[in-house]
Amino acid sequence: MTTVRRLNWTFDRNKPRDWINADREEGPGTDIVSDIIVDGLLLETGSIEYISSHHTLEQFKIHELRSALRELQRVLKPGGMLRLGVADLDKAIDAYMNGQSNYFWTWNWKSLAGRFITQVLNHNVVRTPLTYEFVDELLQAAGFSNICRVAYRQTTGHHPEIVALDKRPDDSFFVEATKPFAIQTAEKTQPRGANQVHVSWTMDPRTTLTVTWHTGGEESGSGVEYRQPGGEWSRITATATKSPGNGFLHRATLSNLAPDTDYEYRVVREDAVMPAVSDAFLIRTAPPAGPADFTFALICDTGIKGRRDGNSTGTERVIDELVASRPLFVLGAGDYAYTNHDSRFKDVNDGIDAWFEQMQPLIGAVPFMAQYGNHEIFLNERFRDWAPRFAHPPGFDEQRNYSFEVGDVHCTALFVPDDVLTAEQLLWIDSDLANARRLGMRWLIVFQHEPIYGHGHSHPAKPRIRRLLAPIFERHRVDLHLSGHDQNYERTFPLTNVGEDPVVMSASRDYYEAGTGVIYAKVSPAGKMSEFRNDFSRFTTEQQPFIATRDDTAHHYALITVRSVGELRVEVFAVVNDYTPAALLDSFLIVRAAS
Ligand SMILES: [Fe+2]
Ligand SMILES: [Fe+2]
Repeated sequence: MTTVRRLNWTFDRNKPRDWINADREEGPGTDIVSDIIVDGLLLETGSIEYISSHHTLEQFKIHELRSALRELQRVLKPGGMLRLGVADLDKAIDAYMNGQSNYFWTWNWKSLAGRFITQVLNHNVVRTPLTYEFVDELLQAAGFSNICRVAYRQTTGHHPEIVALDKRPDDSFFVEATKPFAIQTAEKTQPRGANQVHVSWTMDPRTTLTVTWHTGGEESGSGVEYRQPGGEWSRITATATKSPGNGFLHRATLSNLAPDTDYEYRVVREDAVMPAVSDAFLIRTAPPAGPADFTFALICDTGIKGRRDGNSTGTERVIDELVASRPLFVLGAGDYAYTNHDSRFKDVNDGIDAWFEQMQPLIGAVPFMAQYGNHEIFLNERFRDWAPRFAHPPGFDEQRNYSFEVGDVHCTALFVPDDVLTAEQLLWIDSDLANARRLGMRWLIVFQHEPIYGHGHSHPAKPRIRRLLAPIFERHRVDLHLSGHDQNYERTFPLTNVGEDPVVMSASRDYYEAGTGVIYAKVSPAGKMSEFRNDFSRFTTEQQPFIATRDDTAHHYALITVRSVGELRVEVFAVVNDYTPAALLDSFLIVRAAS
């Protein structure tokens, strides 16, 4: 008799013991009878360890699928697993195309087509034939993470019994997905007073992780507990410092972690009267040095959702999309809270606190490597308000400029407010990039707030930055330069001679050999439009011949995927507002053989 609460969601007559059996109709062994779309599953949120469901999802209408999956996700505990077995449309199509009549178990018809159609629709029991690709998209849309295809009777999870209900291996595919640990609201940590939990790297991304959070009171004895999922908790002590706003900031760095490994962590308070523990977050360490496969993201110009002037039209959607995408880390290219134009916050630091709280579902689970924008320096908010809350690797000028490495990617964060660049800073940039090349880093990526090229009416680029920086980027064959600030998307072809008169080195829209030139992508905004006309930054010029793609009608964020075979793919997504899904706007591949 198992004590684990596990759910079998099925319309099959067989109802195994030791499972909570949910069905839409009453019958022997059925514990819960409900219409999942209309009534939900009649189970408490976060009450189930794992779910197994076979040949059930495909019995729903296409527009019901995401709702059904969201409901399954709701009842799972954070970190809980859903396992699906689904009739595989791809296999049926292959069998049909190859004339394999023995693949089909329906023999009602003489023709192969009759058998194929009858089986795909399973005598009209199936309403939506499914493929793995579509189920993967649906699971992402429902907020699952760690989605992966698995073999019959094999699991990637910690409960081997989850495979016990698998059936029909020949005509099915099996998929597992996890409910993320990210805490959706700060209230959930309130009993302990911890909020604004976020992670970053200050040391080696393979083996360390720095956790920062906020509390209303000082709370000496705060710490972080961490473990590999299912293991024993270890604990380290945090240091508390006065926050620039109300309350205190707490920080601890986990070390001696294993590379490329999942960990759970939670923040704790040691208190003889009222010891307390937050919900847990699931994070992943960076892969070992050298070629690896992973995805990271870039956002900037985010704003705080729900602004009274309506300018933060995409903030919530961009955060949701990135939580669902679950990149390994996120680069922040500046301009975050915009408290100077957000009338809800009389005190700058209240606005900054609200921004960190809003970001917790994403940056509590994914390291956020932040650069500062003009809004963190010049416009009411000050460097001193932001710097204590972000934790960076050591670098140049009080960590305003820094770099770090993940796999074979070197990321350099540049701080160039307005167009101010000192000779010492230029030397630091030059030596940082030279070192990265010397160490054999395959990909060099530079990110900063201000663009090298920007042609919107809000923030046109300043030629002085271009003249000073581009020759350094070209000398070290920087692959990609990312920025924001000017609230639209502009992306160049690979360019050289950018300091003077740019030369287009490849006219392809989507495929480049590394080393031919630097590609400049300004990916903005990730949620908040410009105050100027309450709009995106509309282009003031015709598209120049060195710009490959541009768009001034939506919010934007980028996902960058590197592959160990020597590929770097940049995908830029457009979000019109909080109520529309993200659409792929631009996708290009850079290839480089191993050096
Ligand atoms: Fe800006
Ligand atoms: Fe901005």
